[in-house]
Amino acid sequence: MPRPEPIKIDLRWTDTYSVSSRAYDCLDDSERAVAERLPQSARASYIAAHSLLRIMLSEWDARPPRSWRFATSEYGKPYLRDSQLRFNISHSANHAVVVVSDGAEMGVDVEDIAPHHVDAEIARRMFSDLEYQQWMQADNQVATFFQLWTLKEAYMKAIGLGVNLPLQDFSVILSPPQLIHRKLPASGWHLSSQLIETKAVLGLVAKPDHGRDVEMVLQRITL
Ligand SMILES: CC(C)(COP(=O)(O)OP(=O)(O)OC[C@H]1O[C@@H](n2cnc3c(N)ncnc32)[C@H](O)[C@@H]1OP(=O)(O)O)[C@@H](O)C(=O)NCCC(=O)NCCS
Repeated sequence: MPRPEPIKIDLRWTDTYSVSSRAYDCLDDSERAVAERLPQSARASYIAAHSLLRIMLSEWDARPPRSWRFATSEYGKPYLRDSQLRFNISHSANHAVVVVSDGAEMGVDVEDIAPHHVDAEIARRMFSDLEYQQWMQADNQVATFFQLWTLKEAYMKAIGLGVNLPLQDFSVILSPPQLIHRKLPASGWHLSSQLIETKAVLGLVAKPDHGRDVEMVLQRITL
């Protein structure tokens, strides 16, 4: 039997130093209200992430960007009310990232690299023993810290539990990339870590339906 086609995972990021008014026009009224309430420092990346999401969804399924309607799961993971498309978004001060697919459960996280956030006390508190060991032995402790962090958070978002998943219950292994979970089966997850222009780290964790292969396409977008 021929192998099934790989599941396409459409991952796009943008920097948020300048976001056009065209992006704002994509938002619905509730998103605009949230954006208005945010401090200036968080507003552009919120607008970028939510408008990029709407633009991407409309490329996957031709509907007007403003027409998409969302709901949230019990633990806060957003999903589409009337479409099988799946997605996740993340926004830092300077970057926004969106992932869309029609055949995988996904979580994504972007963090701007801030070397002053990296220290042993934070690593000890955030990371499991296995993660902490990898961080201690790393040649580049700053990059490794953000790789572990973003993949950890992407997994928390992929399974939808967010902060309700205890940080010590699972471990990200960087080489070869895999997950270990104390209580849940952790096979079948695809982990990807990308450095964005030495300024940010992007972590993606995805589980394709039925163990299918993954074809990930990563693009930089200007909004
Ligand atoms: C969702 C969460 C996991 C990530 O939040 P964050 O890093 O502050 O924010 P991000 O920009 O990456 O993601 C926010 C988006 O995730 C989505 N989201 C919210 N809850 C989610 C959940 N339970 N599952 C998946 N996605 C979720 C939303 O779309 C949200 O965007 P919006 O608020 O603009 O609507 C949050 O619950 C959190 O507080 N995380 C911190 C946990 C931690 O201690 N991490 C350390 C890891 S070492």
